[in-house]
Amino acid sequence: MGHDGAGTPDSGSDMRAMTYSAFGGPEVLAETRQPRPKVAPGEILVRVRCAAVNPVDWKIMAGGLKDLMDTVFPVVPGWDVAGVVEQVGIDAPEFAVGDEVVAYARKDYVHGGTFAEFVTVPVRALARRPASLTWDQAAGLPLAGLTAYQVLTRLGTGPGDTVLIHGAAGGVGSLGVQIARALGARVIGTASSANHDRLRELGAEPAAYGEGVVERVRALAPDGVDVVTDFVGGVLDTTLAVLREGGRHASIADNSVIGAGGSGCGYGRTAPTWPSWGLSPTRGS
Ligand SMILES: NC(=O)c1ccc[n+]([C@@H]2O[C@H](COP(=O)([O-])OP(=O)(O)OC[C@H]3O[C@@H](n4cnc5c(N)ncnc54)[C@H](OP(=O)(O)O)[C@@H]3O)[C@@H](O)[C@H]2O)c1
Repeated sequence: MGHDGAGTPDSGSDMRAMTYSAFGGPEVLAETRQPRPKVAPGEILVRVRCAAVNPVDWKIMAGGLKDLMDTVFPVVPGWDVAGVVEQVGIDAPEFAVGDEVVAYARKDYVHGGTFAEFVTVPVRALARRPASLTWDQAAGLPLAGLTAYQVLTRLGTGPGDTVLIHGAAGGVGSLGVQIARALGARVIGTASSANHDRLRELGAEPAAYGEGVVERVRALAPDGVDVVTDFVGGVLDTTLAVLREGGRHASIADNSVIGAGGSGCGYGRTAPTWPSWGLSPTRGS
């Protein structure tokens, strides 16, 4: 989702936003006018150029996180943003009006997201827009990229490791492939056959998911894999069948891995700095 600043002019104190006031499906979403967010100390007001859509957006809208996070209606959905600094809060000297930025803009409660003309973001969650990325590519980077980066680094992924990435063609997985390769690992990635060429381009050895996946991965790594990252959910049996003894694994979509020696990773913290790898998001906005 993006806009170029054209269209209905903002009135100064309010803004256009996509909002919902009850949990549900797409039918609860509507374009409304909302107060422009106040800029608290340590916050930055960002004029949104692009806001990426992630699976978590519809899960939250359906009420899937209501027992985990407080919700204040009306909700503006969206946790990913690329935009331009409009206003700098007190004690936020790191950024200036006009700076081009990206952010994983998740707050501690569900209310003011990025599917709007403006969003406030704590300074700790902002980074400068990578010069090599378009606005829509930049907006697609924060949530998926940080998730993949945090999972792989928490598992200590590095040279000499063979990594299996479940869901390697998705938003998180396609960035995970590139990050694991940049960390020096060999990567096997599961995806439907339509995405195998894309995985090869990103540096992974593809394996089709579904029946027979264990045999296909074992054929590529007969001694087992060192690290498994589950970016899909529901694949624990496959993980345990291909992981070598002493291997490490984690899931972002299945907490049952915790009882099986794995880590449940999720809703990652924001990071103040970004590695300088030339990542190539497969999804734009
Ligand atoms: N906990 C967290 O912090 C966190 C953060 C981000 C995302 N997530 C969750 O992680 C999941 C993935 O997110 P995403 O943004 O990457 O989603 P996405 O872009 O929609 O990608 C999903 C991918 O899953 C693949 N897939 C489907 N079934 C599969 C299977 N059985 N084995 C292997 N791959 C399979 C699909 O591959 P093909 O297209 O090749 O079929 C698709 O590319 C979602 O459930 C999301 O909510 C959690």
